[in-house]
Amino acid sequence: MLAVTFSGTGGNEIVRLEERPDPTLSDFEVLVEARYAGVNPADILQRNGSYPVPANAPADIPGLEVGGKVIACGRRATRWRPGDRVMGLVSGGGLADRVAAHEDHLLLAPAGLEEQQVAALPEALITGYDALTQLSCQMGDIVAIRGINGGVGLATAQIAKALGARVLGIGRSTAIVERVRQLRIDACTHEEFAERAQDLGGLDAVVELIGGEFVRDDLAALRLLGRIVVVSVAGGPQCAVPLNVMMGKRARIMGTVLRSRSDAEKSTLFANARKQLGGLLDTQQLAMPVDRVFPAARVADAFDHLAGPGKLGKVLLDFHNAS
Ligand SMILES: NC(=O)c1ccc[n+]([C@@H]2O[C@H](COP(=O)([O-])OP(=O)(O)OC[C@H]3O[C@@H](n4cnc5c(N)ncnc54)[C@H](OP(=O)(O)O)[C@@H]3O)[C@@H](O)[C@H]2O)c1
Repeated sequence: MLAVTFSGTGGNEIVRLEERPDPTLSDFEVLVEARYAGVNPADILQRNGSYPVPANAPADIPGLEVGGKVIACGRRATRWRPGDRVMGLVSGGGLADRVAAHEDHLLLAPAGLEEQQVAALPEALITGYDALTQLSCQMGDIVAIRGINGGVGLATAQIAKALGARVLGIGRSTAIVERVRQLRIDACTHEEFAERAQDLGGLDAVVELIGGEFVRDDLAALRLLGRIVVVSVAGGPQCAVPLNVMMGKRARIMGTVLRSRSDAEKSTLFANARKQLGGLLDTQQLAMPVDRVFPAARVADAFDHLAGPGKLGKVLLDFHNAS
């Protein structure tokens, strides 16, 4: 197979595209053949040495998601058959054209869903679904999503709207906010956020995809009994939270990670997601803008592009048009 590999930790000098033997399947895994692979900020953190690889993942092949066709099944894997199109999460090894995935950590990709969408959706969709579940998001809630223009932000906004919530996305510039609005997602800049939240009468919930001191602004914008889920600390791991404000609003601030969860926890998450997102996927109500597709050999450029500001949606690698 063709795989992106890391020969240690550092910058793009340790990144290669190489031929490797196909993954060996464990009992409950299936082998997925994929043309496209979604690139994630976590891949760059792993390259830098600041995101340790879980013990059950390939040590030197990054990648957290997969979308493609099942071509082989492990000895005790019964959920899928060769030929099924699936999309889901892996603990590593996703930046390759053949990926081993636990059979329970996959969703069925609807027949009409384009190949790029099958690769672009899984990580963003499952992260957004999980965040909204933790926030107990329901019809009528006002939900802010900070970091709206990335893959997770856009997927979360679509799921929240489908649940009947009102969404306010937050982005870094007026230009990106305008592009998000063209997707029929209400949005504002960080500077406009406090006033917009006040005009809405306060927020029920915030999906915080940047973290750092923004959490203070989130808390200030919450209504009584509001909730915040911190999904990322890309903007910094520290925040001085005024505990008196938190107490007065009886607010809850939660944190979450997906990658390090146990197989059993991920299986439960996928079982619930299958029930609750299946209909939205089948009726094509969820779509992920693809910001840019890079030939797999240009993975270093893809990392640099992902790390820069102003993207709209996902960055993909193409393993068919690899060089
Ligand atoms: N906890 C988990 O299990 C989990 C799962 C999936 C993803 N994540 C994390 O969630 C975040 C969103 O994921 P994604 O796939 O949507 O990433 P993405 O496509 O790279 O989008 C990141 C978003 O955050 C904004 N952003 C990043 N750093 C920022 C900063 N320092 N200041 C202001 N804005 C900043 C970006 O704005 P610009 O475009 O202007 O840079 C963009 O809106 C990532 O940090 C990712 O690592 C966590």
